[in-house]
Amino acid sequence: MTTPDTPSSLVAVDGIHTYYGKSHILHGVSLTVGRGEVVGLLGRNGVGKSTTLKTIMGLVQPRQGTIMLEGQAIAGLAAHKVAQRGIGYVPEDRRVFRLLTVMENLRTGLDRPGVTEQRKQELLDKVFAYFPVLGERRNQAGGTLSGGEQQMLAIARAMMLEPKIILLDEPTEGLMPRMVSQIRQIIDVLHNEGVAILLVEQNVPMTLEASQRVYIMEKGVIRHHAAASELKVGDEVIRQYLGV
Ligand SMILES: Nc1ncnc2c1ncn2[C@@H]1O[C@H](COP(=O)(O)OP(=O)(O)OP(=O)(O)O)[C@@H](O)[C@H]1O
Ligand SMILES: [Mg+2]
Repeated sequence: MTTPDTPSSLVAVDGIHTYYGKSHILHGVSLTVGRGEVVGLLGRNGVGKSTTLKTIMGLVQPRQGTIMLEGQAIAGLAAHKVAQRGIGYVPEDRRVFRLLTVMENLRTGLDRPGVTEQRKQELLDKVFAYFPVLGERRNQAGGTLSGGEQQMLAIARAMMLEPKIILLDEPTEGLMPRMVSQIRQIIDVLHNEGVAILLVEQNVPMTLEASQRVYIMEKGVIRHHAAASELKVGDEVIRQYLGV
């Protein structure tokens, strides 16, 4: 299945094949994310969701296929170059710096060329307004935060880079329901700020609520693509590919 690139596409992935050594994992994955759009990527364990995000991010290189950001090819670029072009990434394991304070974690995203002191302060003020708990804990080590707070910190740190899109890999995994709804609100905040999101999840109801469009993956291919409003838990297609 190929998804034609439209002029409004921010990211357009077309026919990517990704391998780990000899293991052929992605078999021609195509998807698009529009400017400011929230797009869900659903699928069972091991179907290649994280590999899709890693390939977009340049952490693994596709052997075939193209990845465009704002009409420019980015496949083949190193991950830090992809980040500089405006793609933020929050991996599955969150990877906050456990020994650095919350503030120091955030600063790692701010110390880059062209960001004035005033802009740095604005960005910090914004995340502390959105995530008051991070403000309260600004001098606490990242490793002492709860799982949900670390997830918030990882997302907040990605926001410091002012990305056009954030790739979020299972942000609600292992979180309590109250934290899940906070992560859900953060997705809405980002959406209202015009930041696009490619949301990998196993939480089907949350993804259908938060996204405008959804792709469903199975064994390294996209099997289904629909407006989120056209799908609900219990539908045949959801049962078939996701088992809920
Ligand atoms: N570094 C690696 N080396 C070899 N095989 C890998 C590597 N990372 C992932 N795989 C394999 O690639 C396949 C896809 O993995 P991937 O992590 O992309 O799946 P996923 O859809 O994100 O799964 P999950 O829901 O469990 O996070 C799996 O079979 C996995 O075992
Ligand atoms: Mg994964």
